[in-house]
Amino acid sequence: MQFDSKMEIFRTQKTLKQYLSTLNEITIGFVPTMGALHQGHLSLIKRAKEETDLVVCSIFVNPTQFNESADFENYPITHDKDISILENASCDVLYLPENVADVYQNETDFSVDLGFLATVMEGEKRPGHFDGVMRVVKLLFEITTPTKAFFGLKDFQQYSVIRKMVSDLGMEIDIVGCDIIREENGLAMSSRNALLSKTEKKDALVLSKTLKFLQENCKEGDIRKFLIEGMDALFKISIPEYLIVAESKTLKPVISLKKGIKYRAFVVAKIGNVRLIDNIEIFV
Ligand code: PAJ
Repeated sequence: MQFDSKMEIFRTQKTLKQYLSTLNEITIGFVPTMGALHQGHLSLIKRAKEETDLVVCSIFVNPTQFNESADFENYPITHDKDISILENASCDVLYLPENVADVYQNETDFSVDLGFLATVMEGEKRPGHFDGVMRVVKLLFEITTPTKAFFGLKDFQQYSVIRKMVSDLGMEIDIVGCDIIREENGLAMSSRNALLSKTEKKDALVLSKTLKFLQENCKEGDIRKFLIEGMDALFKISIPEYLIVAESKTLKPVISLKKGIKYRAFVVAKIGNVRLIDNIEIFV
């Protein structure tokens, strides 16, 4: 079943829940976003369209997941443009909460032990970030009651955290990981790219180029030499925070690769004031 009519926009969870409660026996595909939409977000909407009956997108810049107030305040907001992008993509429903309280009003306590996931990479560098992400995603799941929810592998650790949360809390939602969408030159699409100057956008290519270098060179055995070379390249142009190759399943960093195990390379670096994140699969 597909819904052909115009996109419905809800500014409160109450009206959205009322609307959803009138629909029976349909599968709901949910795509949570913070807006400033680009092709990366659209790929999730497209995938949700293919796999479910009714696609619900949310746009909400969630304050609890920002650990730097400047980052929150500078986050790009482009609602009018986002709405027309979603309409063109035939998204069925948009939840655009009128304020923060609308999302958080029914919050109840819960705890998920992320274990190692909370201490590595973004867990270490952005204290409290994943707690904020889990809080909002759990609430958004409760509001939108999805059959499947779609997340980009661009934020691979976030995808892992959400899978763990859903499994630990026994939520019956299928979490679908979607490929990273890149510009032709390799730059991973991101809402934060809008904050880069023309020159910075060129400099930002150092992230995807370094990941590609690791993908081409890291094979079975010791990879330290390539990590050092990659870090050198990053330091020339950016302020790197980390460059790590880790097991995809556990996110445990490694310096030597074995056949039969899946790995990804992860990078975070600042270009000017903009913190960019990217990752790539490593084939041993
Ligand atoms: P946001 O950064 O807007 O991203 C929304 C979704 O789009 C995430 O699942 C993200 O991984 C995916 N995405 C972003 N860029 C992508 C790209 N280039 N290719 C593929 N997917 C991409 O992630 C968040 O918002 C928030 O943390 C959220 C989950 C909405 C909770 O507030």
